[in-house]
Amino acid sequence: MASRKSKVVDVHTHMYPPEYISILTSRSTIPLVRTFPSQQQDDSKPQDPRLILLEAEIPSLQLALSDPSAPIPGRPLTSHYASLSQKIHFMDTHQIDISVISLANPWLDFLTPEEASGPLPAKINQDFERMCTLHPGRLFFFATLPLTAPSADVILKSIESSKELKHCRGVIMGTSGLGRGLDDPNLLPVFEALAQHNLPVFLHPHYGLPNSVYGPQQENYGHVLPLALGFPMETTIAVARMYLAGVFDAVPGLRMILAHSGGTLPFLAGRIESCVLHDGVLLKKFKEEKRRTVWEVLREQVYLDAVVYNEVGLKAAIGASGEDRLMFGTDHPFFPPLETDEQGEWESVGLNAQAVRKALGEGSEGAEGVMGGNAVRVLKLVEE
Ligand code: URA
Ligand code: ZN
Repeated sequence: MASRKSKVVDVHTHMYPPEYISILTSRSTIPLVRTFPSQQQDDSKPQDPRLILLEAEIPSLQLALSDPSAPIPGRPLTSHYASLSQKIHFMDTHQIDISVISLANPWLDFLTPEEASGPLPAKINQDFERMCTLHPGRLFFFATLPLTAPSADVILKSIESSKELKHCRGVIMGTSGLGRGLDDPNLLPVFEALAQHNLPVFLHPHYGLPNSVYGPQQENYGHVLPLALGFPMETTIAVARMYLAGVFDAVPGLRMILAHSGGTLPFLAGRIESCVLHDGVLLKKFKEEKRRTVWEVLREQVYLDAVVYNEVGLKAAIGASGEDRLMFGTDHPFFPPLETDEQGEWESVGLNAQAVRKALGEGSEGAEGVMGGNAVRVLKLVEE
């Protein structure tokens, strides 16, 4: 990356602390970590265990368990997932000054209600705080909430204790909410508490679309359909549901940072708007309640990351939310290079940085903002 006036900030960058990895290693259903006998071949060096996260990976997991010659499922769990020194090395390699780290999917969504109200969620957040403290000025984090806890009180307490952690700048959340999605009225107190504490929600997909939509040949298509299309559609539908339920109008202080440039929201917002306009019942309701348009919500309550890998999508995102609301990200440690050294530069990072340059012009004020200035301003990324 060329030299810059303002800092480069990565707002979309994950870690699984070692304690979380041990939990995944002890599990027999997804999400899980597992080593397959066919991995340890000949005299070659031991291979990384596999990280299996997605529902779309279940068929290949089942096949590998029943047939040792079948392809190994999931992705290699390299040291990049849990090692803080690898994160710093990755940042240094790509001239990233500040990272806002977050637990990767599926966060704590699989905890039983008892586990969610136990000590684990606070320990994970404290671990993120500890990592940030080790690198003053370079690391901040999005906390994780125990959303499967039996009562909202546990979640509200977790928001309060996260706010106390010096480097916490928001929370990362999937689309399941309390189990019924983000338009669930029971989630409103959580959104209100987050708004009151000025903690934005970094909304990230995990569940994708039902496997059936990927068709009978999905085994031949790797991760392309669930990751390139399922993830962004999930985000799009989750936010559209929030919009239609009036969540943004009900909690005007809520701020959301949407992963992957809002899924397909920038591209489809016009269609959402038009469908409301052509639905007599909804139109009347929206008028009575003086609801804002999707476009207004996108420019007033939503930020988008710039993890879209190409300037065509990025220009749509900028058109929807404004260049002052876009924030660079890498999605490290996902999408490592396959043909070059993982310790060197990652093609995925280069593509996202190139998209910013091509969309806004190298060194322009807008590009500087997207690469870091916006995140520093919005998330107050200064070490106190
Ligand atoms: N990126 C993520 O953040 N999670 C995945 O599961 C895959 C890609
Ligand atoms: Zn991600």
